[in-house]
Amino acid sequence: MRYLTALLFTIFILSCATAQNSSSEGTLGFSFLSEEENAFVQSELRRLTLKQKAGQMTQVAVDLVFEGPTYVLTVPPVLDSSKIDRIIGELEIGSILNHPSRSFPTPEEYHDYIGRLQARAMETTGVPLLYGQDAIHGVNYVSGATLYAQPLNVAATFNTDLASELAGITAYEMKAASIPWNFSPAMDVGRQPAWPRTWESFGEDVYVNQRFGLAMMQGYQGDDVSDQNHVVACLKHFTGYGSPASGRDRTPAYLPERQLREYYLPQYATAIESGALTVMINSGEVNGIPTHVNKHLLTDVLRGELGFEGLLVSDWQDVRYLYERHKVAKDLKEAVKMSIDAGLDMSMTAVTTDFPEIVLELVQEGEISMGRIDTSVARILAVKVALGLYDQQVWDPAAFPEFGSEQYARKALQSAEESIVLLKNDGLPLPIKAEQRLLVVGPTADNMRSLNGGWTYGWQGTESDEYLSDYNTIREALEKEFPGRVDYAAGASFDTLSDVDAAVAAVENVDVIVLCIGELSYTEDPGNINTLVLPKAQRDLFNALHETGKPIVLIMAAGRPRLMNQLSRLSKAVLFAGYPGPRGGDAVAGILSGRVNPSGRLPLTYPRYPNALLTYDHKATEALNGNFNPLFEFGYGLSFTDFVYSDLELSSRVLNPNDTLTVSLRVTNQGERAGKHSVLLYTQDQVASITPSARRLRDFLKLYLEPGEYRDVTFTLTADDIAFIGLENEWVTEEGTFTVMVGDLTEDFDYED
Ligand code: BGC
Repeated sequence: MRYLTALLFTIFILSCATAQNSSSEGTLGFSFLSEEENAFVQSELRRLTLKQKAGQMTQVAVDLVFEGPTYVLTVPPVLDSSKIDRIIGELEIGSILNHPSRSFPTPEEYHDYIGRLQARAMETTGVPLLYGQDAIHGVNYVSGATLYAQPLNVAATFNTDLASELAGITAYEMKAASIPWNFSPAMDVGRQPAWPRTWESFGEDVYVNQRFGLAMMQGYQGDDVSDQNHVVACLKHFTGYGSPASGRDRTPAYLPERQLREYYLPQYATAIESGALTVMINSGEVNGIPTHVNKHLLTDVLRGELGFEGLLVSDWQDVRYLYERHKVAKDLKEAVKMSIDAGLDMSMTAVTTDFPEIVLELVQEGEISMGRIDTSVARILAVKVALGLYDQQVWDPAAFPEFGSEQYARKALQSAEESIVLLKNDGLPLPIKAEQRLLVVGPTADNMRSLNGGWTYGWQGTESDEYLSDYNTIREALEKEFPGRVDYAAGASFDTLSDVDAAVAAVENVDVIVLCIGELSYTEDPGNINTLVLPKAQRDLFNALHETGKPIVLIMAAGRPRLMNQLSRLSKAVLFAGYPGPRGGDAVAGILSGRVNPSGRLPLTYPRYPNALLTYDHKATEALNGNFNPLFEFGYGLSFTDFVYSDLELSSRVLNPNDTLTVSLRVTNQGERAGKHSVLLYTQDQVASITPSARRLRDFLKLYLEPGEYRDVTFTLTADDIAFIGLENEWVTEEGTFTVMVGDLTEDFDYED
């Protein structure tokens, strides 16, 4: 606080002599700041010029301060003094994002270049920069960082403690690289499985998104974002982004208010209530309104109802897209006005710089009030103050000895091991028996991109093979796990057969085929697909191998549930690997050898057919006549041991409004292997004024049991847990009978008002 206190005093003196220019809108007191810090924010509002405030509301890509054309900087990147003069010196821009294109610096390199940029900002405006990145599964743009499973996989662990620990590792390693703001967690609720960001969400269930979003947010922020080990989280993308009707990225979602409130707000409400400091806006549109101009959502709901006090940032170039793509504004100026009117605080203008100048004009022309600007700038400064950035802008990488450590690597491995889902194991082909020989084959067998997905050394994950070359692909890991017993053939690329004859011939020498299919890495628009059907080359490869008669262990490494109905039926064992991260190869090998007992469970419904994309919480009519028949249900996942549920009991047959109902049951490991297991508790509302879902997940926990061991577990339910958005579009718990469901066990209770 040294710098802050001195500055505060000077500013206090100055401000006494200056006319107050902030309206009542601008005099917010932030509950996450101390009185002194709030006073400081106010004094900054009085000190900064309008131009500087417009700069604070702008965030550009770091490419704009390096030598070379945007997106194709020189390698290694070299800071360009004249560009720094323009961006920080003249435009006085207050926030920067991303990594220098084509390079993934080390913490030391980040420290040096961010240090230079910060020094320039402190010299120019006296306000530190807020630097942000998408560190969604570890600090994926920093060389040598600890990367772990992607969010869909983290959800499949059903282990929220692990999620928090992983986020804590990310926060620590971000600070080691002097990056204090993380554009994560994404809590989009991936309810359209073709959506190319399904793997960035925690799956199809709002409650799972709520629990994991909270766990990760808390792991990032800790109790105090200004301490060395924590960063500011950014909840994204507010809201409804995960349900585009077309399945394509950034395309319209149609969400009746009831659905919006029940599935797309609770995860934000919980994380905001627990102190989330920033939120990013959904790039798409909901009910015909691009979210960046949706005042109802951004102001009435987010601020008014959810009580969000922090900083609301746009997504990449999304203000510009209001007229370039969405066609709701006639030009950039109108788009800027509309988005600020709607509630935007900071525009991620990314590679353009006209935003601050337009803000200036709009205020000078009386189109936007100074009070409105101060409201946004106060929020931005409040986050900078909370981070302690006025006192310290960069961190010494040497003070972070655990960066990329073995201890963190073990957590990354755990995330992979607990997230891979064993979907089929017929006739127990797994674990692989001693002396069995394997043929590893297929397009996802021998690359890092299929284990890591996007946001991994590149937005699209394209350089992950180069940067993660020290880690094992599935093929390499199997070769280590089963020395001398593994042959390899490519067989096919993702969409073209390549030497399938050689693959078929190689089957001759082995006992088991490990066929690795799925996807490469992608995200956003480049990941759009026309069908969930697996490319023909991969199906042909399967058929050719299946014809040999040798048993197939099928491994699906992909970011969404690519269809595999026939393939799964004809395989002896099936694993959904998802994107388990750099240690995914080791985890697959561990499961195949039996060294690791799988415990992942699907956080989404695995469809069987292209047009049957129902979620587990569908309505009764959608399931009539066997119409709900997915390949694997939400929550499905096998183990090498047998977990058996018994003695399901309710503490009462009646639940009243202020009561708590205790649900208890016994979980016994009746098999011969120790293992972890997640217990999922659902309820079913028997009769309701709004057609009830088939079932809804209400709670879960994960436990570890030795062979023969049992544990009595309890869950609690309240009226809120079984509420839904009713006829009046408000939360309501209606009287009537509810069924509690855990595995095949069920018990009923009545809710009475
Ligand atoms: C993505 C966001 C991301 C932002 C900054 C956008 O394209 O939609 O999720 O945080 O870029 O990298």
